[in-house]
Amino acid sequence: MNQPLYAVPAEWAARAHVDAKGYGARHAESLADSAGFWQREAQIVDWMTPFTTVDESCFDEAGFGIRWFGDGELNVSANCLDRHLATLGDTPAILWEGDDPADTRTISYRELHADVCRFANILKAQGVRKGDRVTLYMPMIPEAAMAMLACTRIGAIHSIVFGGFSPEALAGRIQDCDSTLVITADEGLRCGKTIPLKANVDAALTNCPSVERVIVVRRTGNPVAMQPGRDIWYHEARDGVSDDCVPEPMNAEDPLFLLYTSGSTGKPKGVVHTTGGYLVWAAMTHKYVFDYRPGEVFWCTADIGWVTGHSYVVYGPLANGATTLMFEGVPNHPDFGRFWDICDRWGVNIFYTAPTALRALMREGDAWVTRASRQSLRLLGSVGEPINSEAWEWYHRVVGDHRCPIVDTYWQTETGGTLMSPLPGATALKPGSAAVPMFGIEPVLVDAEGQVLEGVADGNLCIARSWPGQMRTVWNDHARFFQTYFTTYPGRYFTGDGCRRDDDGYYWITGRVDDVINVSGHRMGTAEVESALVAHPKVAEAAVVGCPHPIKGQGIYAYVTLNAGEDGDDALRAELVKWVRREIGPIATPDVIQFAPGLPKTRSGKIMRRILRKIAENEVDSLGDISTLADPSVVAALVEARGAPS
Ligand code: WTA
Repeated sequence: MNQPLYAVPAEWAARAHVDAKGYGARHAESLADSAGFWQREAQIVDWMTPFTTVDESCFDEAGFGIRWFGDGELNVSANCLDRHLATLGDTPAILWEGDDPADTRTISYRELHADVCRFANILKAQGVRKGDRVTLYMPMIPEAAMAMLACTRIGAIHSIVFGGFSPEALAGRIQDCDSTLVITADEGLRCGKTIPLKANVDAALTNCPSVERVIVVRRTGNPVAMQPGRDIWYHEARDGVSDDCVPEPMNAEDPLFLLYTSGSTGKPKGVVHTTGGYLVWAAMTHKYVFDYRPGEVFWCTADIGWVTGHSYVVYGPLANGATTLMFEGVPNHPDFGRFWDICDRWGVNIFYTAPTALRALMREGDAWVTRASRQSLRLLGSVGEPINSEAWEWYHRVVGDHRCPIVDTYWQTETGGTLMSPLPGATALKPGSAAVPMFGIEPVLVDAEGQVLEGVADGNLCIARSWPGQMRTVWNDHARFFQTYFTTYPGRYFTGDGCRRDDDGYYWITGRVDDVINVSGHRMGTAEVESALVAHPKVAEAAVVGCPHPIKGQGIYAYVTLNAGEDGDDALRAELVKWVRREIGPIATPDVIQFAPGLPKTRSGKIMRRILRKIAENEVDSLGDISTLADPSVVAALVEARGAPS
């Protein structure tokens, strides 16, 4: 905790949107006079009908519900496009660089507006109406952002499924929300290799009766099967379609999008975000956390399949009239200097990425970074997982030349946008700390019994009151929403994260305290990997935990008990890895599979995951009390045979 402090650079304190005094005053105001604060700050978006109520949320069981700006009306695409046309019509809205560095596009606000209107008209012509669900399974190309915005223009609810998920995972997400239309591309591209997106959609749709139409964007141009009557080429449908489409006035609480995310139990849940509060939160956090100024180029490296891509590739930046950079490729293709070359090529001012990418690049040496000038960079950001201090210092010293503050933004799919972060003009930096709460956020640390911990403390992180960007429900399962987030510590939103508050009042996220693991900044429920494993005919039982991994942050460590008579050998290991990749997708690839004749269980049959975690972490000297196990001897056998990620 005695980390060096990096003071706010003087020029930042002088010209940032918020300085230290401003932060303190505004955060205090946001809690003391929430209605007044949000009445003013919510004007960051344009309302078609002004709201007269602000926060009507309640975290208690009686009267439970989340509701903000409840009688206001607005349209997200109008906020992201139409209102900028008069002043920013010719300004680039999207700068795009493909997998191949020579493949680029620049799309002005005027062009994006026209394309979104056309796309919206195509959706309408295919029968999509307000409230219908549209699933996107797309590569990182501008048409993905156009499709998102087109949905918002007509009030359709988009559900983006990351292009790395398997057909099975895609099908489950389509079935859960009964999408009627899917938007995809012929293929994706990654390091020059193609990804069969359309073929995956075809495989998924053998099991999705709700889907009536598939719109296919041509990306690689390689031949793909098209099912007559169901599949439509985007470039053909676009011919002759009007670029005029009146934005649908939406109630602030109308659903904007669904995004499936992993929890500690069961299948991924459809996180529901609504129109008004989400957009206010995305825009406001983008403005203050990144200190965004007109004319700057903002680059968030996240894929739109994750919440970071929703809030900080598309909605936050475009609502603020920013120029957002969209990148299809990966950091190590054609070489390890790709990120920094892009910064130079496009004059990136604000760069936002995940610690896992930084750790992977850091070990390749500084020369890949220093061959680029990086003179345009002003601010750096980190998101998705705790950033270790070595990676932080490297980011600061090598990438930012000691010149650029780093904002370590802590948030979740559920929170819509950043909950905690330093503000670059206001907060001295401590490497590895997400620092201070955003406006309107009231963090509370509690112990296991729910007792509130004051001052310097280490506990479970809850948020005491609602904020506009908070998720509203789990799609089709409001009871699960309440049960998952509001019953562990009644009256509070429980994040699932552990957290420490130091004597300067800085917050340090220590990682998940539930059965969610964070692999390369991607959220994975251990239960999902377990159910994929036990679906294999040779597997009797599986228990999955996280293990430390030098690049990914956490790796996936699976203990597998085979059916009687089956042999656990390397061939079966490889087969199981392939199986999980097929069931869920490559992001769920187990790093270690340890065949375990027995798992540590209590006498009532509950698997003691605490012990499995310790073994996976190689902390075998601190296993704790194992005397309550039905068969304590299994532990020694597991320790003996433990594996390590390669
Ligand atoms: C973790 C991603 C530490 C945390 C936006 C959270 C972080 C989970 C940080 C949400 C950070 C995210 N420092 N941990 N700056 N950012 N996390 O839903 O455990 O994909 O609960 O949202 O990532 O992951 P999700």
